[in-house]
Amino acid sequence: MNIKGRHFLTLLDYKTEELKEIIDLAIDMKSGKTVKNLPNKTLGMLFQKPSTRTRISFEVGMTQLGGHAIYLDFRTTQLGRGETISDTSKVLSRYCDILMARLYKQTDLVELANASSIPVINALTDLYHPCQTMADMMTVIEKRGKIKGLKVAFLGDCGFNMCNSTIIGFSKLGADVVAVCPDKDVYTPNPEILNAAKKQAAGNITVEHDPIRGVMNADIIYTDTWVSMGQEDAEQRIKDLRPYQVNEKLVSHASKDVLVMHCLPAHRGQEITDDVIDGPHSIVFDEAENRLHVQKAIMVSLMGV
Ligand code: CP
Ligand code: NVA
Repeated sequence: MNIKGRHFLTLLDYKTEELKEIIDLAIDMKSGKTVKNLPNKTLGMLFQKPSTRTRISFEVGMTQLGGHAIYLDFRTTQLGRGETISDTSKVLSRYCDILMARLYKQTDLVELANASSIPVINALTDLYHPCQTMADMMTVIEKRGKIKGLKVAFLGDCGFNMCNSTIIGFSKLGADVVAVCPDKDVYTPNPEILNAAKKQAAGNITVEHDPIRGVMNADIIYTDTWVSMGQEDAEQRIKDLRPYQVNEKLVSHASKDVLVMHCLPAHRGQEITDDVIDGPHSIVFDEAENRLHVQKAIMVSLMGV
């Protein structure tokens, strides 16, 4: 695999084999079988939205690789005073070796990447969260040895970043993915992204509005917050999405050894109940840990090390 110098903006841009190789590398780096380093390299981390896991896992990852990471708050750089994304990107490219950015809009991330002469990694936008899905796929491979043939049910808000990336990534690696959501456009996968995912998928992608039918025999149940960063109308969303709550009763319709996943942060008592997130099926903290390992593998691969 040679992905040196490329951006990592959406899983749609990567071949299945490339994604698998990054995950294999992450597993080998986690176990210590493979050692990679990025001495004297600097990661610029631009954040327009809050973060716990993404910020810390990238920063710790760069420290472990022998490099350095700089946290850049969008509002306290000159971006906050109107300097363009493109000019900022050109300048950051002169100082840093690699960038990651968490921005509201994917279109802004593309602008940043287009002006950058160094690799740019998507650390979450409105449309995608590819690093999270890479960590999720790594976690499932660790737990089940494969992704091909598994049934993945994503419940709740299927019209936003986390569901999009889950559909794209897991179906490319051969899972059947079902988006389980209310019959309203706002909660349903964006048709363009759905079609792009279907073209690349090795498994089936379907949309289901009945929560019980959706999780029936599922090997993986995935959920995410009902009110993402940047979304409004919280009250309406919580009301509309209530039937899709991942609770013990719903989980009982899935496969008996179902894995329950959540990118975190969780809103306990809304999209997921305490008994499920703290219960025997939950692998949410393994996913969170694997952010660190998979992002180290992404960074060394994009840096060609
Ligand atoms: N899952 C995830 O990206 O978490 P943060 O928002 O805390 O970075
Ligand atoms: N969909 C969530 C994911 C958080 C990691 C959000 O965008 O807020």
